[in-house]
Amino acid sequence: MGSDPGVSSNLEGELELKTVDLLKKLGSLAQEQGMEAYLVGGPVRDLLLKGGSVDLDIVVAGDGLSFARRLGRQLNADVMVYERFLTATLTFPDLTRLDVATARAETYERPGALPAVTPASIEQDLIRRDITINAMAIALNPPRFGTLLDPHGGATDLKNRLLRVLHPRSFLDDPTRILRLARFAARFDFAIEPGTRALLDKALAARVFDVLTADRLRAEIFLVLSEPGSAEVFSRLAELKVLDIVLPGAQPGGVFPKLIDQARRLAPFVEKGSQWDPAVVRLLLLLRGAPPKVLARAVERINLTGKARGAVQQASRLPALAKWTARAGKLSELHQGLSGLPFEVLLGTLVLMESEKSRRRMMKYLTWGRRLKPGLTGDDLMAMGYTSGPGLKRILDALLHAKLDGKVKSRKGEEAYVRKNFSSPRG
Ligand code: CTP
Repeated sequence: MGSDPGVSSNLEGELELKTVDLLKKLGSLAQEQGMEAYLVGGPVRDLLLKGGSVDLDIVVAGDGLSFARRLGRQLNADVMVYERFLTATLTFPDLTRLDVATARAETYERPGALPAVTPASIEQDLIRRDITINAMAIALNPPRFGTLLDPHGGATDLKNRLLRVLHPRSFLDDPTRILRLARFAARFDFAIEPGTRALLDKALAARVFDVLTADRLRAEIFLVLSEPGSAEVFSRLAELKVLDIVLPGAQPGGVFPKLIDQARRLAPFVEKGSQWDPAVVRLLLLLRGAPPKVLARAVERINLTGKARGAVQQASRLPALAKWTARAGKLSELHQGLSGLPFEVLLGTLVLMESEKSRRRMMKYLTWGRRLKPGLTGDDLMAMGYTSGPGLKRILDALLHAKLDGKVKSRKGEEAYVRKNFSSPRG
C-alpha cells in the first residue's frame, strides 16, 4: 500500500488554524534541510476519528535532534533534547508542547526489555508500532503536506472499529501492548480482531508478563487508572484474563464503575489544598477488600512505593473502615479512628459508605474537621498555669475533640473548658 498520494487527511479542515500553520512551518523547515517531517501515531488516529486531538507527535526522517534545535530557534521555543532516545520536546512561549522524534527502527534484544533504537525511514518507524490504527503518518513537507501514509491498513481498521497488531511477535516484544489494547478497546469501543486475540492468548500462555519489569507494569497500570473510562478498561482486562496476572485481587465488576463515578463526583468537594492522587483512590477502590496476602502480591507486582504504597496497603480493610466510619457517632470519634490515614484512604472510605447521613458527617470531617486545631496553644496553656509535658498534649487533644463536637466555639469557651476539666497546679 505505502504512501498514497491520493489520500489526503484533511488537516486543514480538522485542526485549528494556528496548528496547521505550525505544521506547515515544520514541513518547510524539514524540506529546507533535506529531511522529511510527519505527524504520527495517536494524533493521526484521533484526527481521522475526528477527535481533534492537539497532542502533536512529530517524527523526522533524518537528524531529528538538529531539526528540533533549529525549529526551537526559529519559533522561540525551549528545547529539551534526549540524545539517547533520539527525541526532543519543544515548549513554546504559550507553554504548548511538541514532541519531535527521529524516525527509528527498534530491536528487542530480550522480550519485554526496552528496545535498542537506530535511525531509520518512516516506514520502519511505523512498522515498529503497536496496532494498525496507531501506525499511520501524515506527511508535512510542502509537496505532500496532508498526505496520509497508511502501510498497514489503519484507516480501514478505524472504519471497521478493529484493533489489530502489525506482526505476530508484537505482544512478545512488548507485553505492555496488551494493556494498551484494552485501553483503546474501552476508549473507542473497538473490537479486538480475532487473529490479534489469538496472539494475545498465545502470549498469555507463554507467560509473557513474567518478563515485564514491575516499574513498566506500574506505569502502564497508572495510564489505565488515568483513562476517563478506567472501569471499562479493567473489566476488559478481566475478560481477557489479564487482570489477575497484572493486578491480583482487583475487582472491576459489580459496583466498581459506580464507585469510580462517585469518587470523581466527590473529589472537587474535598480537594481544596490537599496533596493526593485520584489514580491512587481508584486503585484502592479496585483492590477494596482483597485478602491481605493477595494485596501484598499486587503491591509487589507493580512495585508501588512511597505514599501510594502506604495508601494502597490499606485496601484490604477499606470496606471494614467504611462500616466503622458509618457507625461512628461523633466527629471526635472519627478523628480518633482516622487521623494519620492517607487522604486517598479517607476518600475511598467515603465512597464506600452507603448511608447519606453518615456520609455527610464524613464529608464534614474531611473538609473541615480533619484540619481543625484548638485555638489555644501549648504556650497559652502554660501561661494559664499548666506545666509542659505530656499533660499538655492531653489537654490539647481534649480541646480539639470538644471543638470537633461543637462543645466549644471560641477562645474564651476553650479557656473555660480547660479550667473546668483540668485543674492546674497553680490554680
Ligand atoms: N507505541 C507503540 N507501542 C507502545 C507504546 C507506543 O507502538 N508500547 C506507539 C504508537 O504508535 C502510539 C505512539 O507510540 O500511537 C505514541 O504513544 P503514546 O503517546 O503512549 O500513545 P498514543 O497512541 O498517543 O495514545 P494516547 O491517546 O493514550 O496518548
